[in-house]
Formats: sequence, C-alpha cells, structure tokens
Amino acid sequence: MKPSILVTRAIFPDVIDRLAQYFDVDSNQEDAVLDAAALRERLAGKAGVLANAADRIDGALVCALPQLRAVCNMAVGYNNLDVPALTAAGVVATNTPDVLTETTADFGWALLMATARRVTESEHYLRAGKWERWSYDMLVGMDVFGATLGILGMGRIGQAIARRASGFGMPVIYHNRSRLPAETEQQLNARYVTKDELLAQADHLILVLPYSPESHHAIDAAELAKMKPTATLINLARGGIVNDAALANALRARQIFAAGLDVFEGEPSVHPDLLTVPNVVLTPHIASASEKTRRAMATLAADNLIAALDAGPNAGHPPSVINPDVMPRRR
Ligand code: DGY
Repeated sequence: MKPSILVTRAIFPDVIDRLAQYFDVDSNQEDAVLDAAALRERLAGKAGVLANAADRIDGALVCALPQLRAVCNMAVGYNNLDVPALTAAGVVATNTPDVLTETTADFGWALLMATARRVTESEHYLRAGKWERWSYDMLVGMDVFGATLGILGMGRIGQAIARRASGFGMPVIYHNRSRLPAETEQQLNARYVTKDELLAQADHLILVLPYSPESHHAIDAAELAKMKPTATLINLARGGIVNDAALANALRARQIFAAGLDVFEGEPSVHPDLLTVPNVVLTPHIASASEKTRRAMATLAADNLIAALDAGPNAGHPPSVINPDVMPRRR
C-alpha cells in the first residue's frame, strides 16, 4: 500500500501526478482554506505533507499525528514550522532554498524602485484623472542611482540583492547576525555596520532576515525614528519583523519617505492604517511569484517529500533538510 500524503494548497497538476506515482495523494486542488482544525483532520493518518508557509505546524499538531514522518514546505522561510518539536518527534522538515533567490531579489528591486519613485501612487493619480499638466514637483521621489543601499539580513537573498546594486552605483551597507567573510564582502562591495548605523545611513533599507522570536518587531517605532526622513523601507522578509502599526504612523507623519511591503503581520489581513497612507506600495506576498520559480519551488518540495518518505531516485536523501540531525533517528 502506498503511504498517504496531504498537499495543503493547490499546486501544478503535473506535480500532483508525480507525487501520485509514489503516494496516495489527498490534494486540496480546490484551494479551500484549511484552518487549524481542518488541517489536523486532513493530516490524520498521513505520512507526509507538502505544506505552504501559511500552514502552522506546531508541537501539539505533531504530537497528535504519530504517523507523520515528513513536513515539506514550499517556501524557503519556515517560521510556520515548530522545528524543535518536529526534530524531537523524529519528523523530517524541509524547505525550498536557492531556487527562489534571484526571483525574490528581482522583486526586492521592483519594490524598491516603485517605492522610491512612487510608481503605484503615480498610476493611481493618472487613472483618477488628476493628471492635467506637467509640473516641476509632481510626484517627485527619491533617487536610487548612487544612493546608499542598506540590507538587514545578508543571507542568500540579501547577497543577491547586493550584487544588483553595482549597476546602480550604490554603496552597500549591511547588518547580519554574523558578519560575512572579508572575501565575500569584497565581492559584494558591502560594508558591515551596526544595526543603528544601518538605520541612520541607509537611503533605501531592505529587510531580508528570517522571522524568529528574536526578529519580531526588529523594526519598531524606535528604529523608524533612527531612519532618515528621506529614506525608504522595503519588507520582503516576513510579516512581524516590522511593527506595521508603528510603520503606518511613521509614514503618515513623514518620519520616513515611503515603504514597500510584500509581507504583513497577520497576512492576508493588512493593517487598516497601511491602506490609508499614500506613501506605501503594497503587494500580496508575491516576491517569489514567477512562473519558473514557483514551478521550481513545487518541484523541489515534491522531491523533498518523495525522498524523505524513502521513495524515488534519492530515497532517504531529501535535497534540502532543515533539521538534518533527525535523519539517523527519524520516524
Ligand atoms: C518563501 O519562500 O519563504 C516565500 O516568502 C514564500 O512564502
């Protein structure tokens, strides 16, 4: 008998077909919202799950699912998973790094450019029929070329963003839990600074650090107060890293120039105050959303699940395990 798995959200049908070669697949192709109770019910008796970053898989759920052996996220971020609980229970956890790095970095730049140069605000202005004549101060923004780019979180995506900065003649400063090797800093032309220096010196600050209890509200009112009034803030990482209410206040008070947000606290809900300030560009968590990259993410998540459940050509060797310590003693 094939092991049973759950695919929690709609994904490419051919990926489901591939999984079906190895597993009895319960797939949510209708994309119904699975709340915690529905998720628990659908996971009962399943050996594996291909999950989404919005599926909360915590210790209580893991304990209630003794047959669960693998949790495979279709996302690089995995703050939705209680990794210590999965590890303690002998459940393999995987994510989808690398395949989305460049696409996400591209989007960081799209958001930066749109924010600094007021692209969406300009479009709304035009569509509303407000464009009557040229004027010297109409929708003026902040320069990108030659400005100082600040990056908080210098992992794969942060580095890919930094690489693109050379074309814009931008000095790069960054802050990270651990400093990069000197050679990498040199290649990226990036200078390590303290978090306070980063806040004070960046003209455009991009957040690409992972979410954890330590990074919760890493950007709050006090941090926003340290930024330049001409600065922009881009959150590409996770909701909860920025205090969205404090940001809305800072934007309304023009304490900073503008913000670009792809992720939100409590998404898909968006703080109502962010919806009423004009100087913010809002996108619905789409940084990795190119056709090619979403396919690569689904394929990697499926590869992980197949291998983690000891099937397919890489049986027992999933390509991107978050908790490798679990492998010798997994369920
Ligand atoms: C990721 O891969 O972590 C993206 O944010 C999609 O959830």
